[in-house]
Amino acid sequence: MAKINGNYKKLQAGYLFPEIARRTQEFQQRNPGVELIKLGIGDTIRPLSDSVVKSIRQTADLMADAQTYRGYGPEQGIPELRKALSEHYLKYNVHLKPNEVFISDGAKTDLANIQSIFAADSIVAVQDPVYPAYVDSTVISGKTSGYKDGRYIGIIYMDCLEENNFFPDLPKEKVDLIYLCSPNNPTGAVATHGQLKKFVDYARAHDAVIIFDAAYSAFISDKSLPRSIYEIEDAGSCAIEINSFSKLSGFTGVRLGWTVVPHKLCVFGTKPGEVQALWDRRQTTMFNGASNIAQLAGISVLSEQGQKETQALIDYYMENAKIIREGLNDVGIHAFGGINAPYIWAKTPNGVDSWEFFDKLMNEAHVVITPGAGFGRQGEGHFRLSAFGDKNEIKKAIDSIKRNLKI
Ligand code: MLT
Repeated sequence: MAKINGNYKKLQAGYLFPEIARRTQEFQQRNPGVELIKLGIGDTIRPLSDSVVKSIRQTADLMADAQTYRGYGPEQGIPELRKALSEHYLKYNVHLKPNEVFISDGAKTDLANIQSIFAADSIVAVQDPVYPAYVDSTVISGKTSGYKDGRYIGIIYMDCLEENNFFPDLPKEKVDLIYLCSPNNPTGAVATHGQLKKFVDYARAHDAVIIFDAAYSAFISDKSLPRSIYEIEDAGSCAIEINSFSKLSGFTGVRLGWTVVPHKLCVFGTKPGEVQALWDRRQTTMFNGASNIAQLAGISVLSEQGQKETQALIDYYMENAKIIREGLNDVGIHAFGGINAPYIWAKTPNGVDSWEFFDKLMNEAHVVITPGAGFGRQGEGHFRLSAFGDKNEIKKAIDSIKRNLKI
């Protein structure tokens, strides 16, 4: 008798972004002709850079010829890309072996799947507010028992508030897996060396593993801030880093990411190399590798010319972030982030409920944002704006907020 995975029934709401899309669509049906400016989901809009387009065309030609056609590649990724990524980390003085880098089809899948190589009863800690995929995948994998006061029982939530500069204190209890995201989605806060070192020390002392989501690391321009967890001494023995080409080079539709599982990473009862081998086993069993078109394009992103083009894309979005942040501050909305991160996190005016503010902003200013409550209990009273938009549209959105939002 087949039964569904009952853990799905424990999920409290639909996934955040489809819910935003549903409400947006409903508004558009009610208000045909009204143009909405969407700064909700962080989805890139700029065209692929020249090097990437050239690479994709070249690979298409190779695939069109029986002599050069390529089928399955290694599940862990093509060696040239794994090597190019390991060399990319040398910029931060981080030394990785190519076989510690596993290529994926984007960060989100691995952020969820990585849990499967750890014990089913692992205690998971997350920042609050939090990127919802960490929480929902923890629920789906059966690590929670119920839901109370806006939180799943069984997950340890680490508050990220204005008072602690949106970086959490260490968990008071012993936890096993700790999701950290820096630059943070949604708050736009970036962890310092000192802040990350405390977590690395905690993880080493408690045999815990940090799952470090670095999907926005390319947006850090302040050289004093770490762009990889491995810039922190000893992190290689307790941290897995997950990253993506999505925001780095506009690959949200191309799909490519990577996960670093260092050889020296150990958990209770393992020897160096065992955890890395488990992830290798998991990937070779359940993943057939990222598209070779995307992987070869990824190599072009990491080339010298590709890096220049990538920087131009990042600069474009970061100018948007500045426009948003300054525009909100101009109308008296307290905004955070947006300096070394493509997200701006702001307080809803007069502490209004964040879904209510979502509707109000859509109705009055025709701007779509992400309500803070969608990121957890501590997100309530806040909202997030994404800088991944067209510059003129973003200027229009800020102008409309200034003219039309009744605060
Ligand atoms: C977001 O808006 O938080 C992200 O774009 C969603 C994602 O990366 O999955």
